Amino acid sequence: MPQIVFEGVEKSFGTTRVLPPLDLTLDDGEFTVLVGPSGCGKSTTLRILAGLETLSGGEITFDGRPIGHLEPKERDIAMVFQDYALYPHMNVARNMSFALRLSRIPKAEIETRVHKAASMLNIDHLLDRKPAELSGGQRQRVAMGRALVRDAATFLFDEPLSNLDAKLRARMRTELAEMRDTIDKNMIYVTHDQVEAMTLGDRIVVMKDGRIQQQGTAEELFARPVNRFVAGFIGAPTMNILPARLYRDAEVLRVRGEGFDLPLTPAQDAALRAAGLEGAVEIGIRPSSFTTDPAGGAPIEMTVSVAEYLGAQSVLNTRVGPHEVLAEVASTRRLRSGERATFHVAPDDIMIFDPESGERIAT
Ligand SMILES: Nc1ncnc2c1ncn2[C@@H]1O[C@H](COP(=O)(O)OP(=O)(O)O)[C@@H](O)[C@H]1O
Ligand SMILES: [Mg+2]
Repeated sequence: MPQIVFEGVEKSFGTTRVLPPLDLTLDDGEFTVLVGPSGCGKSTTLRILAGLETLSGGEITFDGRPIGHLEPKERDIAMVFQDYALYPHMNVARNMSFALRLSRIPKAEIETRVHKAASMLNIDHLLDRKPAELSGGQRQRVAMGRALVRDAATFLFDEPLSNLDAKLRARMRTELAEMRDTIDKNMIYVTHDQVEAMTLGDRIVVMKDGRIQQQGTAEELFARPVNRFVAGFIGAPTMNILPARLYRDAEVLRVRGEGFDLPLTPAQDAALRAAGLEGAVEIGIRPSSFTTDPAGGAPIEMTVSVAEYLGAQSVLNTRVGPHEVLAEVASTRRLRSGERATFHVAPDDIMIFDPESGERIAT
């Protein structure tokens, strides 16, 4: 498996620039997830790598060798497309073996590979069916099977689960996570769904407007987002972001906004000083950082507007001053709509963002 490197890769369609110079290294054997909102350039990145789009600038190398001039079939890449692109008139077995038959692989070898992939994907009993006779989830597996039989060094997946209903998507996500651990290949997986990214990626690359915002493990992105965008994109329910002002009260740096007034830690104080930030900031608090436990940190008054009881946890839509704030707390006490209650948040769990650049002030 090659190490794949994007060096200053650019892509424009006419005058529209989709990828500004993009630098990205995909390590050997890694499962990398590219995640970002629709239109941010994820599919374009995959299609350039597969050779389905030409580069407008820069170069891609496999183990140091430039591949920009290679035809798609010379790149040892198999791709699963978002819409599956199955041939309607061929049965599952023939769909899966199509590329192998084209490359004149011996018949016995084709059969072995198709059966191996089919049994891995649990579609062995469907080999005689046509795509129209399959459910969405089964078609999705066939599309994956068609890529797997090619035994390529690198697999690309473009939102393979986006056409499935929520329940099937969750099941396929688990199956993919299991499969990921048994297939020792480079896999690059594109999705707009941060939950898929968090569950599947060894490494997650967050993109916005063609630019990489941050790369790291799910834990790193969740605990140490570099900016407001990543903080809001990774994690569910979404982080609360509120405008606030810094002020000092008897040596303690505090942050105040409409409906709240919270202390910060000495480490945050030092980091803000080092960053030269004073006055206006934005603070970020994850819904899960709130607790009803008075020992859980500084108090904040919240009025519950809607309480969604989920069993052990409840998600509360609340108001803090004029702001809508989500809180996810243990359901130890049933909170009713309209109830005003004191919650608590540890100052350490308050993230602070530069309101201009959106960058997080790291402590
Ligand atoms: N063939 C094309 N011609 C013109 N614009 C395109 C073409 N393909 C993609 N784009 C534009 O490039 C941007 C990124 O598209 P895409 O890579 O498909 O995003 P994503 O997969 O992240 O949703 C979008 O604004 C899209 O409209
Ligand atoms: Mg896409």
